Order: sequence, then C-alpha cells, then structure tokens
Amino acid sequence: MKIVKTVDEVRKQVKEWRSKGYSVGLVPTMGYLHEGHKSLITSAVSQNDKVVVSVFVNPMQFGPTEDLESYPRDMDRDAKVCEDAGASLIFNPEPSEMYHDDFSSFVDMGTLTGGLCGKSRPIHFRGVCTVVSKLFNIVTPDKAYFGQKDAQQLAVIRHMVSDLNFGIEIVGCPIIREEDGLAKSSRNTYLNENERNAALILSKSLNEGRRLIEAGEKDAAKIKQAITDYINTEPLAKIDYVEIVDWNTLEPVSKLDRPILAAIAVYIGKTRLIDNFIIS
Ligand code: PAJ
Repeated sequence: MKIVKTVDEVRKQVKEWRSKGYSVGLVPTMGYLHEGHKSLITSAVSQNDKVVVSVFVNPMQFGPTEDLESYPRDMDRDAKVCEDAGASLIFNPEPSEMYHDDFSSFVDMGTLTGGLCGKSRPIHFRGVCTVVSKLFNIVTPDKAYFGQKDAQQLAVIRHMVSDLNFGIEIVGCPIIREEDGLAKSSRNTYLNENERNAALILSKSLNEGRRLIEAGEKDAAKIKQAITDYINTEPLAKIDYVEIVDWNTLEPVSKLDRPILAAIAVYIGKTRLIDNFIIS
C-alpha cells in the first residue's frame, strides 16, 4: 500500500490501474480511523479491484469556533488500519495541495443543507460538498463509500452526485457502534470518563424512540418529545436538535407515513455528538 501527498501521484496511479481495467473505490475520511471507517474500507475492498482512502482534515468544513486545530490525527495508525483492511492507496494531502492561495470555487447546495446539522454549522456542507467533489475529480472512482452515521452528509452527497452528474455510485454503510451502543466517532476521544458514560444517552434515547415506533406510534411530535425527555434526564447532555425528517427531502414530517430519518445532535460537555436511525 502506498501513501501519496499530491494530486498528480493519485492521478498517475489511477491511470495505471485503469489501463489494466481495474475498478476503483474511494473512501473519503478525515483520519483517526476506527472500526466505522474500517467497515467502509472493507466494503470497498470487497466490491472494487483497487481502493483509495483519502485522509484529509478538511479546513473548509469547520466553522471558526469548531475543533479544526484539536481534531485528532495519527497517520501511522491510519496507515495500519488501511493496510489491514486491504486498501491500495492513501491520499494524504496538505491543505495547500487541496486549496491553492487563489482557490475560489465552491459547491453549494440549495436544499438539504439548511436543517439538522446545517442549522448550527452553516458553512459545513459547502465545505463537505466542495472537498468531496474535488476528491471525486481527482480519484474518478466507480464507487464511493459513506457512513449512515453522518446521515445528512450521505443524503447531501447522493443529491450532489445526481445534480452534478458525477456518474459515481454512492454506497451507504451502516453505523458501527461500541459494544454498549455508542456510535464510533473520532470525536469520542474528547470525552472524559464521566462524559463517555453520559454519551450513552444518545443511542439509548434513540432506542426509546424506535421502541415507540415499533409499538405503533406514528405521531412524529410524540416520538420527538419522548426522545427529548429521555436525553434531558442526563445532566451532562445539552440538546442541539432532535428531528424526525423525510429521509429523501430531509424536511420535517408530522406523521410517520414514509421513509424517515430520526436524527439527534447532543453536546456532552463541550463535545458535539450525533446519532440517528432510519426507518424505510
Ligand atoms: P469522517 O468523519 O472521518 O468520516 C468518514 C466516513 O466514515 C464518513 O462517511 C462517515 O459517515 C463514516 N463513519 C464515521 N463513523 C462511522 C461509524 N461509526 N459507522 C459507520 N461509518 C462511520 O465524514 C467525514 O469524515 C468528512 O465529512 C468527509 C466526507 C471525509 C469530507 O471531508
């Protein structure tokens, strides 16, 4: 497995693979890889001849008060995870390789990005769409892999690929969790022991919502309220949002009469965590 830092090196490698007729999968990441990322790489390896993993903490998707500087990084460990999972190439560019001084073109989406995480992170999806478009243009994969953990991101990328005719198949992958239910996240490393325990409130509250739905509840307001009340039993938790939305449009629903996404964002201390489930 090779690690490269420039766009030219990626293009050269992909060109060589294409000349041999190989299919190419892409797994975009910001590194500090865990089992969630690894599951994406494993899926990609099983469905493509060659797999590129990008490891790039994308400055453009972080707001001015967010954790760009403190975001965890460990390239040696990431390389081992990628190698073990069977990836062929890591693309690990410097910010200056991705954004030249005169960089001024952005991919901005008119729908899907205003609600949920977009509400408290207004520039986030512009940064995500711009960097993912660049990665798609650099790697030109057949398929690209995204986790349902970031459900809004998955919906946004699918929409962007359709709008802009990227001709890339987007493969959504299930949420990988710790044994006790906490969704794996690079940001879990910010939690101290008390906060780590408190963070369980996310998956538990969603389980409570799912239980109500399985018992026949179809009123979105009631399910949202039950999830909210459950989260509020945890003193260290502060809700950013609890939403039930149409899984295609990401617009809030009042009745559960179509595929829905139940999504939450909760601060545990200073750390903002997200989790969700989809009912289709
Ligand atoms: P990052 O947070 O590193 O996540 C990379 C990919 O791993 C995303 O598709 C995310 O949904 C997936 N992922 C993270 N935790 C997961 C889990 N517990 N189970 C399953 N999949 C999981 O998302 C980003 O990076 C960036 O926004 C990126 C798309 C790379 C653009 O910069």
